[in-house]
Amino acid sequence: MHRQLLATVLSAGSALAAPAPQASAAPNATIKCPIVFDGRVPASFVQDPTLWDSYATNTIYNPDYVRNADLKWSQTLKFPTGDPSRFDGSDFNAVEVTLSDKSIFQTQNGFRRAGLQFLKDASDGPGTTGVKTLHFSVKQDPTRPLNLTHEYLNVWHEAADYSADQIQFQYGTIIGKSSSDKNNFKLLDRSGATIYSVAAAATGWQNFAFTLDYTKNQVTVYYSTGNTALKQVAQKSADLSGGGQFQIGILKKPTGTSDVVNSGYQEKNINEGQVYGGIFLEDSASNCVSL
Ligand SMILES: *[C@@H]1O[C@H](CO)[C@@H](O)[C@H](O)[C@H]1NC(C)=O
Ligand SMILES: *[C@@H]1O[C@H](CO)[C@@H](O)[C@H](O)[C@H]1NC(C)=O
Repeated sequence: MHRQLLATVLSAGSALAAPAPQASAAPNATIKCPIVFDGRVPASFVQDPTLWDSYATNTIYNPDYVRNADLKWSQTLKFPTGDPSRFDGSDFNAVEVTLSDKSIFQTQNGFRRAGLQFLKDASDGPGTTGVKTLHFSVKQDPTRPLNLTHEYLNVWHEAADYSADQIQFQYGTIIGKSSSDKNNFKLLDRSGATIYSVAAAATGWQNFAFTLDYTKNQVTVYYSTGNTALKQVAQKSADLSGGGQFQIGILKKPTGTSDVVNSGYQEKNINEGQVYGGIFLEDSASNCVSL
């Protein structure tokens, strides 16, 4: 009888085991709110990176900004494979923004920078009114590590008059601050006060969403890792006035200067990258947020 019970348990166990999903089941997060700007990268933009380079073909991002005018997006973006980010699923792809010594925008010799701007984002457009949520996931490229001695500004919303960034998603050592949290991603408000901070993971996706309530001047932060649903982790008042645009990429500040735009120290032969996935802005009117 004992033996028979064991056999029943074993056979029930194997019957259950057979249809169990694979360990790496595809992500199935769905975007449930209206998309305002869709920055997710379709397969065609990976198969033919030159689609990124002109207004005729780049339907997603500004082909010309913000980068060295002589360094096309097709020359600097990479498309890492591997597990897709939560909101990319099997239909969209990761994109890696990379920096080299040539990553100098106009005459801003202090910075090394390359940043994506949503094609339809305008300084007085829908990204600056109502309640909107910016989504993106990040992953680190072990072959192109950032140098956390430096201050990095990776995702932000810059006021129309360029006088301030209403939100600043940063990494590394913030100039003039302690380096003790250099391995953290930090979301700062326009005055540099911390809204949320979390350690950067060496591997795997970290998912962020920032709800910008322009009517209440309030930021709500959602966060998760891997394929788990986003959870609210912070909410804070922040002055979101001033219009402007989003930017997603890398802006590496120099060390040893008070004029970070134009001067300071940048080491030579840099090869750095930040991987992004699942980039989009959704309309969060009526508290709609895709988790
Ligand atoms: C798919 O979504 C369902 C419902 O939200 C969730 O329970 C499940 O874990 C998800 N599966 C994956 C692979 O994400
Ligand atoms: C990081 O940056 C500092 C300051 O520019 C530089 O001195 C150092 O060599 C860099 N470290 C690495 C590992 O590149």
